[in-house]
Amino acid sequence: GSLNIDYVYSLDHLVLPGETISSNRRDIFCGGKGLNQSIAFAKAGAKVYQAGKVGQDGKLLLDVLERHGVDCSYVQTIEGASGHTIIQVDRKGENSIILYGGANRMITPEDVTEVLSHFTAGDVVVLQNEISSLKEIILQAHDKGMKIIFNPAPFEQKLLEYPLEYIDLLIVNEVEGGQCSGKTEPKEILTTLYNRYHTAVLLTLGKEGAMYYDGDDMESHPIYPSNVVDTTAAGDTFTGYFSNALL
Ligand code: RIB
Repeated sequence: GSLNIDYVYSLDHLVLPGETISSNRRDIFCGGKGLNQSIAFAKAGAKVYQAGKVGQDGKLLLDVLERHGVDCSYVQTIEGASGHTIIQVDRKGENSIILYGGANRMITPEDVTEVLSHFTAGDVVVLQNEISSLKEIILQAHDKGMKIIFNPAPFEQKLLEYPLEYIDLLIVNEVEGGQCSGKTEPKEILTTLYNRYHTAVLLTLGKEGAMYYDGDDMESHPIYPSNVVDTTAAGDTFTGYFSNALL
């Protein structure tokens, strides 16, 4: 999974095309969908190994993972910069994100083979779309009989060429679900994706809660209302806890 240093700028509103605005607050957080999901998964109680790559500036990322009990034996530190993001957060807690892949994009098929040699049938691999060699991970993990949970975020058209029929659970929000399925209505997103890939699908719907479909049951669950401060990584936290509940 991905590991990013998140540079978070607090703003009155998200910057518009051609506009320059000042921010009087910048926070630096550890992030990346992979790191966020690993920490949530570990906090929920699972034994979690993070695999991936960071640059020379990535020690803070390893430190925070280890503090939360995530095993980082399969994270390599390489020359160059770690992945990073520039995140704007407005007064309502909405965000927009620029992602620079950095070391996350240096993962090779050989790295995948090496890391997966330590895992076996029954283990679960949780993936997001912020690293290189994703297709190789899906193919090799499937060959080993591992369970694969895939959060195709951020969405890119080329993801649809991957062997998504090998995924055991797809986790998407409404935007990604729409992009993957070509549909807009939640039930149609779920049934279209299930019928196409025969994989269970979990669809998160913001304040409308979440829905799930695995060919038999279509379930939905409302939200627990809370005071929104910053929605960054809310989906990742949900993914980590849901994955643990599933285990
Ligand atoms: O999902 C939130 C994450 O997306 C942030 O931590 C950022 O690094 C981006 O990867």
